[in-house]
Amino acid sequence: MNLFISRPMRFLPLAYLLACTACQAQTVSYNTLWIPDTLRGPDFNLVMKDTFSQIIPSGNQTITAGINGKFWGPTLIMYKGETVHFNIKNQLNDSTTLHWHGFHLPAVMDGGPHQIIPPGTTWKPYWTVTNKAATYWYHPHLHEMTEAQITKGLGGLIIVRDDEESALPLPRTYGVDDIPLVLTDRDFNSANQFVEVPYGDSMMVNGTLRAQHTAPAQVLRFRILNGAIERSYNIGFSDNRTFYVIGSDGGLLNAPVALTRYLLHAGERVEILVNFSGQSGQTVDMKAFNSTLSNFIAGGESFPGGPFANYLGKKDFTMVHFKIGAATAQPVTAIPTTLANNVLLNAADAVLTRKLTISDSAGVTNPPILGPNAFIINHKLFDFNYNNYTVPLGNTEIWEITSTSVFGHPFHIHDVEFNILSVNGAAPTAAQAGWKDVVFVPGRTNGQNSVVKFIAKFEDYADTLHPFMYHCHISLHEDEGMMGQFIVKNTSTATSEPGTAGANFQLFPNPAADRLYLRFDDPELQAYYVRICDAAGRTLLMLPQPDLHEGIDVSKFKPGVYFLECRDSQSKRALSKRFVIGTSR
Ligand code: C2O
Ligand code: CU
Ligand code: CU
Repeated sequence: MNLFISRPMRFLPLAYLLACTACQAQTVSYNTLWIPDTLRGPDFNLVMKDTFSQIIPSGNQTITAGINGKFWGPTLIMYKGETVHFNIKNQLNDSTTLHWHGFHLPAVMDGGPHQIIPPGTTWKPYWTVTNKAATYWYHPHLHEMTEAQITKGLGGLIIVRDDEESALPLPRTYGVDDIPLVLTDRDFNSANQFVEVPYGDSMMVNGTLRAQHTAPAQVLRFRILNGAIERSYNIGFSDNRTFYVIGSDGGLLNAPVALTRYLLHAGERVEILVNFSGQSGQTVDMKAFNSTLSNFIAGGESFPGGPFANYLGKKDFTMVHFKIGAATAQPVTAIPTTLANNVLLNAADAVLTRKLTISDSAGVTNPPILGPNAFIINHKLFDFNYNNYTVPLGNTEIWEITSTSVFGHPFHIHDVEFNILSVNGAAPTAAQAGWKDVVFVPGRTNGQNSVVKFIAKFEDYADTLHPFMYHCHISLHEDEGMMGQFIVKNTSTATSEPGTAGANFQLFPNPAADRLYLRFDDPELQAYYVRICDAAGRTLLMLPQPDLHEGIDVSKFKPGVYFLECRDSQSKRALSKRFVIGTSR
């Protein structure tokens, strides 16, 4: 039976399904794997918008959303040490956020559920890249809307480069020997539109159905993201060849790890090398070997019916069909034996162990919530107005997650990359023994709760107003409230009591032409958050922690009356001032 389907099988008559078991030899029509364009910073302009895309090669286009395009977004290239600046324009019909998954940055730049970008506005976050070379991603994180907005196609990859990685003999020519593979699946209705469900019937790689890629006969690097709403993919090749894991979520491993399968959960990334040398003219498929997964792993359940039933459930299926072509002029032909020199965190340095629980919501009556398939952290649904933890700045902490849930959950935390200490008492596997920001917490098995421990250091960015999040990266679970938040607080400096009113400031020149300058009456103060609204009160521009030395670029504003609301770094309270853009500029 051909598992590599183009259309939702559930819409096909049973007779077709039966007939199909006899048509093994039927040729599959592949589509060329789309490779997203790259954008090289340090300045990035991103436009999020609702659009249409011809995802199913014939028939109706699909209603999608894209970033600088029709589905998904460009791959952003950043270098460790540089300061990246963004103009993010939300032209969607809805509010959204854009989260930098895996990045260590100020909470106010993080793009979590608190950093909302209303439609028609521009958000300008920036930060200095301190992350190690690895594959990260960006995606919307609007509470209760994450599944919907990711389903429509919003997201993109980020490649961080650094000196350590650049010095290694690894493939790094994007799209040639260094190939991004974003794994996801979707369900289409009979009008070719996405159905917002946790499990799709059709595999998509980089937004391409039945993807095919011609790859050179040499060592290739695949940067693989599980961008699915829920499904895990047990990655391997159709000929069971060995591949080499070189990196996890947040950095390179110390040495490549030879494997034939790697189980990738929602939100996780893995970088692998695979050697196609001397195989020109051959073909091989990258597959998900999900038929053997335990039924507590997303995609390993067998649902014959009901809302979670899907064609790919508990099956092995092709993700990318590779045709191997000629090698490039200077191919990488060997797998390196060593990679990074990681200094991992030491459990002896942890100042505390934070204990979290994951449980099924069934039987939870206070609050009486959700359906029988919902899941919950610390017996409390996500509450925007409740801070779950205060983490002292500089703390090294062990987070210990005990799960009584029958299902497994990929647990993700913002702000930090961590090291896994143990999964059910066992040390992490070699491929997971590096930097991670998602860890899979297995389901309760044989009456035994699952316990996962990781260690992280909370450095650099303290903010008592904007929190960081932790949550299950299955978007459905997250949207249903399987999330919490923490603030990082600087406890060593005696912070004076925040004022009750915003600090006074002057705007000049007023009327303004191209640049508008802001000066606090108290020169010690800095701006924490600036928002510019038009005369009708509509937000136009949001500037987290702006550097105001060079003023604010208002050259694109039409002549008229505006309001600038500024929160200073001390009181964090807002004060508004009126300014005018003159007609004669
Ligand atoms: Cu990729 Cu809070 O998420
Ligand atoms: Cu994240
Ligand atoms: Cu979950």
